[in-house]
Amino acid sequence: METKTLQANPLLISEDLRHIVTALRSGQVAALPTETVYGLAADLYNESAILEIFRVKGRPADNPLIAHIGALSELQKLISEPSDLFYQLAKCFWPGPLTLIGQRASGVPDCVTAGLPTIAVRMPSHPAMLQILKQTGALAAPSANLSGRPSPTSAADVLEDFNGQIPLVVDGGSSSFGIESTVLSLVGPKPVILRPGVISREMIEAFLGISIEVAGSGSPVLSPGMQYRHYAPKAKIHLLNSAEELSLFKERGAYIPETLTAQNLYAELRQADRLEKGEIAILLNRKMRSDEALMNRLEKASR
Ligand code: TXA
Ligand code: MG
Repeated sequence: METKTLQANPLLISEDLRHIVTALRSGQVAALPTETVYGLAADLYNESAILEIFRVKGRPADNPLIAHIGALSELQKLISEPSDLFYQLAKCFWPGPLTLIGQRASGVPDCVTAGLPTIAVRMPSHPAMLQILKQTGALAAPSANLSGRPSPTSAADVLEDFNGQIPLVVDGGSSSFGIESTVLSLVGPKPVILRPGVISREMIEAFLGISIEVAGSGSPVLSPGMQYRHYAPKAKIHLLNSAEELSLFKERGAYIPETLTAQNLYAELRQADRLEKGEIAILLNRKMRSDEALMNRLEKASR
């Protein structure tokens, strides 16, 4: 199969928009830009299209997908009785990098939520993604990488994993945040962050006026995706505390990113693999340590 790339700068021209919407409506999968990372999307209500996402990614069937919507009116079909809190958070942070988990509505196919009684939903803010979502309705989309690889933050990253394997990629430029959305569960007695992300714990706490937990490695697996080795390049990652250690790795020819932020993390991990480096050495500083999302991904990638 030939993978066709459509350009969005940042919007799609009407002919390309028609093309991508028709493809998605007819059950094809396509890689689409979001403000966090690229997603591998398909019609949420088309079971065979959803199964194709799992097949192409090599994703375990017990790892649920995020529903992406372009309008709040889509929520009723996905969430059974969204709470007031759900709407308040959605109105404050959408469109944007916050994923909210609620009880799923009856029309949602089992394969999307991996059989869970809950569903994850977000409204992304990339203009081309919103253009598409407004015409297709809800799309299910995990990050557009082979399972276990670093998430893609450009169309070139997507092609590295999927060229010839999927029919369409929409190139919407480099992802502005470069790291996945924050996943916040609203199904328990208190909101819990299942995956730290761009919207920080502090931002959510400031909005809610209460302190909230980030589900840690000690607690039961709440977000199935967090149990797998993740976000990992082929190279082995070493997290370092001193300049002395760093110079040892430099001598050994390890890949050493100049500056590392959540925004360029995945791009750097992929670059190390392109250069066929066996090792990546990262000197942690205070700023990095205080970034919960960055540290979460680094710890998972270096396991
Ligand atoms: O920024 C993002 O969220 C990107 C872009 C494409 O939107 N998407 C993304 O999807 O990162 P994915 O599939 O790579 O990660 C989804 C995470 C996984 O850890 C999954 O287990 C969790 O969300 N998740 C999905 N549905 C869930 C549910 N019902 N309960 C708990 N965790 C859920
Ligand atoms: Mg992912």
